[in-house]
Amino acid sequence: MVLPIQIIGSEVLRKKAKTIDKDYPNLQEFIEDMYETMYSSDGVGLAAPQVGKAIRLFIIDASPMEEDEPTLKDFKRTFINPKIIEASEEKAKAEEGCLSIPDVREDVERHTSLTIEYFNENFEKVTEKLEGMAAIIIQHEYDHLDGILFTDKISPLRKRLLKRRLEAIAKGRFVRRYKFVLGKKYR
Ligand code: CO
Repeated sequence: MVLPIQIIGSEVLRKKAKTIDKDYPNLQEFIEDMYETMYSSDGVGLAAPQVGKAIRLFIIDASPMEEDEPTLKDFKRTFINPKIIEASEEKAKAEEGCLSIPDVREDVERHTSLTIEYFNENFEKVTEKLEGMAAIIIQHEYDHLDGILFTDKISPLRKRLLKRRLEAIAKGRFVRRYKFVLGKKYR
Protein backbone atom coordinates (compact mmCIF):
# COMPACT_ATOMS: atom_id res chain seq x y z
CA MET A 1 0.00 0.00 0.00
CA VAL A 2 1.33 3.40 -0.94
CA LEU A 3 1.40 5.67 2.11
CA PRO A 4 1.09 9.45 2.00
CA ILE A 5 4.35 11.38 2.48
CA GLN A 6 4.50 13.89 5.32
CA ILE A 7 5.49 17.33 4.03
CA ILE A 8 7.69 19.86 5.85
CA GLY A 9 5.52 21.54 8.47
CA SER A 10 4.26 18.19 9.68
CA GLU A 11 4.83 17.61 13.39
CA VAL A 12 6.06 14.00 13.09
CA LEU A 13 9.04 15.11 10.95
CA ARG A 14 10.36 17.05 13.96
CA LYS A 15 10.00 14.28 16.56
CA LYS A 16 12.82 12.19 17.91
CA ALA A 17 11.89 8.71 16.72
CA LYS A 18 11.80 5.73 19.11
CA THR A 19 13.66 2.44 18.89
CA ILE A 20 11.51 -0.62 18.20
CA ASP A 21 11.78 -4.32 18.95
CA LYS A 22 11.04 -7.22 16.65
CA ASP A 23 7.52 -7.57 18.01
CA TYR A 24 6.56 -4.15 16.73
CA PRO A 25 3.03 -4.64 15.32
CA ASN A 26 2.82 -5.37 11.57
CA LEU A 27 6.48 -4.50 11.04
CA GLN A 28 6.99 -6.55 7.86
CA GLU A 29 3.88 -5.13 6.28
CA PHE A 30 4.95 -1.60 7.20
CA ILE A 31 8.41 -2.14 5.64
CA GLU A 32 6.76 -3.43 2.44
CA ASP A 33 4.52 -0.37 2.38
CA MET A 34 7.57 1.87 2.80
CA TYR A 35 9.30 0.29 -0.22
CA GLU A 36 6.14 0.60 -2.29
CA THR A 37 5.81 4.25 -1.26
CA MET A 38 9.46 5.03 -2.00
CA TYR A 39 9.36 3.40 -5.44
CA SER A 40 6.10 5.06 -6.41
CA SER A 41 7.54 8.49 -5.58
CA ASP A 42 10.94 7.82 -7.25
CA GLY A 43 12.88 8.25 -4.01
CA VAL A 44 16.11 6.44 -3.15
CA GLY A 45 15.57 6.63 0.62
CA LEU A 46 12.64 6.91 2.98
CA ALA A 47 12.48 7.22 6.77
CA ALA A 48 9.50 6.06 8.86
CA PRO A 49 8.66 9.58 10.14
CA GLN A 50 8.13 10.61 6.52
CA VAL A 51 5.16 8.28 6.41
CA GLY A 52 3.91 9.30 9.82
CA LYS A 53 5.58 6.87 12.25
CA ALA A 54 8.15 8.21 14.70
CA ILE A 55 10.15 4.96 14.86
CA ARG A 56 13.85 4.37 14.15
CA LEU A 57 13.61 2.75 10.76
CA PHE A 58 14.62 3.83 7.28
CA ILE A 59 15.04 2.14 3.93
CA ILE A 60 17.36 2.84 1.02
CA ASP A 61 17.45 1.54 -2.52
CA ALA A 62 20.03 3.55 -4.40
CA SER A 63 20.40 1.09 -7.27
CA PRO A 64 18.67 3.55 -9.70
CA MET A 65 21.76 5.78 -9.20
CA GLU A 66 24.11 3.01 -10.27
CA GLU A 67 24.82 4.61 -13.66
CA ASP A 68 26.35 7.68 -11.99
CA GLU A 69 27.95 5.77 -9.16
CA PRO A 70 28.74 2.08 -9.81
CA THR A 71 29.35 1.44 -6.08
CA LEU A 72 25.60 1.84 -5.53
CA LYS A 73 24.81 -1.31 -7.47
CA ASP A 74 22.63 -3.48 -5.21
CA PHE A 75 22.71 -0.89 -2.43
CA LYS A 76 19.34 -1.80 -1.03
CA ARG A 77 18.97 -2.02 2.73
CA THR A 78 16.48 -1.80 5.58
CA PHE A 79 17.94 -0.07 8.65
CA ILE A 80 16.25 -0.67 12.01
CA ASN A 81 17.49 1.05 15.19
CA PRO A 82 20.63 2.26 13.37
CA LYS A 83 23.62 3.79 15.14
CA ILE A 84 26.40 5.61 13.34
CA ILE A 85 29.32 4.49 15.47
CA GLU A 86 32.09 6.18 13.52
CA ALA A 87 32.28 8.95 10.94
CA SER A 88 35.21 10.32 8.94
CA GLU A 89 36.72 13.67 9.78
CA GLU A 90 36.71 14.36 6.09
CA LYS A 91 33.55 15.99 4.80
CA ALA A 92 32.28 16.88 1.35
CA LYS A 93 29.39 18.87 -0.08
CA ALA A 94 26.80 17.39 -2.42
CA GLU A 95 23.34 18.33 -3.60
CA GLU A 96 20.43 16.68 -1.79
CA GLY A 97 16.67 16.60 -2.04
CA CYS A 98 13.90 15.06 0.08
CA LEU A 99 10.42 13.71 -0.64
CA SER A 100 9.17 15.74 2.34
CA ILE A 101 10.47 18.98 0.76
CA PRO A 102 9.39 18.67 -2.87
CA ASP A 103 11.41 20.36 -5.63
CA VAL A 104 14.08 21.79 -3.32
CA ARG A 105 17.70 20.83 -3.89
CA GLU A 106 20.55 22.26 -1.84
CA ASP A 107 24.20 21.53 -1.11
CA VAL A 108 24.78 19.82 2.22
CA GLU A 109 28.07 18.95 3.87
CA ARG A 110 28.37 15.33 5.07
CA HIS A 111 31.00 12.91 6.33
CA THR A 112 32.53 11.05 3.39
CA SER A 113 32.53 7.67 5.14
CA LEU A 114 30.99 6.07 8.20
CA THR A 115 30.44 2.87 10.12
CA ILE A 116 26.87 1.98 10.97
CA GLU A 117 25.36 -0.67 13.21
CA TYR A 118 21.76 -1.66 12.63
CA PHE A 119 19.25 -4.49 12.48
CA ASN A 120 18.06 -5.62 9.06
CA GLU A 121 14.48 -6.58 8.14
CA ASN A 122 15.03 -10.02 9.76
CA PHE A 123 16.25 -8.30 12.92
CA GLU A 124 19.79 -9.57 12.43
CA LYS A 125 22.52 -7.25 13.66
CA VAL A 126 24.75 -5.85 10.92
CA THR A 127 27.85 -3.63 11.05
CA GLU A 128 28.92 -1.98 7.83
CA LYS A 129 31.43 0.59 6.67
CA LEU A 130 30.18 2.71 3.78
CA GLU A 131 31.48 5.64 1.81
CA GLY A 132 30.59 8.08 -0.94
CA MET A 133 26.98 8.44 -2.00
CA ALA A 134 25.85 5.52 0.19
CA ALA A 135 27.25 7.28 3.28
CA ILE A 136 25.56 10.55 2.28
CA ILE A 137 22.14 8.95 1.83
CA ILE A 138 22.48 7.17 5.18
CA GLN A 139 23.26 10.45 6.99
CA HIS A 140 20.26 12.13 5.36
CA GLU A 141 17.87 9.33 6.37
CA TYR A 142 19.43 8.97 9.82
CA ASP A 143 18.80 12.68 10.47
CA HIS A 144 15.08 12.11 9.85
CA LEU A 145 15.04 9.84 12.93
CA ASP A 146 16.23 12.77 15.03
CA GLY A 147 13.75 15.25 13.56
CA ILE A 148 16.38 16.90 11.38
CA LEU A 149 15.76 17.90 7.75
CA PHE A 150 18.50 18.59 5.21
CA THR A 151 17.42 22.23 4.94
CA ASP A 152 18.44 22.64 8.61
CA LYS A 153 22.02 22.02 7.51
CA ILE A 154 22.45 24.55 4.72
CA SER A 155 24.25 27.88 5.08
CA PRO A 156 22.48 30.70 6.97
CA LEU A 157 22.30 32.70 3.74
CA ARG A 158 20.66 29.88 1.77
CA LYS A 159 18.28 29.33 4.70
CA ARG A 160 17.16 32.94 4.57
CA LEU A 161 16.69 32.77 0.81
CA LEU A 162 14.65 29.56 1.11
CA LYS A 163 12.40 30.50 4.01
CA ARG A 164 9.39 31.73 2.02
CA ARG A 165 9.62 28.83 -0.35
CA LEU A 166 9.56 26.32 2.51
CA GLU A 167 6.58 28.10 4.04
CA ALA A 168 4.79 27.86 0.69
CA ILE A 169 5.60 24.14 0.40
CA ALA A 170 4.22 23.60 3.92
CA LYS A 171 0.95 25.09 2.65
CA GLY A 172 0.90 22.69 -0.29
CA ARG A 173 2.28 24.95 -2.99
CA PHE A 174 4.41 22.55 -5.04
CA VAL A 175 4.06 20.28 -8.05
CA ARG A 176 2.11 17.29 -6.74
CA ARG A 177 3.62 14.05 -7.92
CA TYR A 178 2.69 11.68 -5.11
CA LYS A 179 0.27 11.17 -2.22
CA PHE A 180 1.11 13.46 0.70
CA VAL A 181 -0.19 15.03 3.91
CA LEU A 182 0.39 18.58 5.05
CA GLY A 183 1.09 19.60 8.64
CA LYS A 184 -0.44 22.50 10.45
CA LYS A 185 2.44 24.89 10.61
CA TYR A 186 5.86 25.36 9.03
CA ARG A 187 8.78 24.72 11.34
CO1 CO B 1 14.55 13.14 3.37
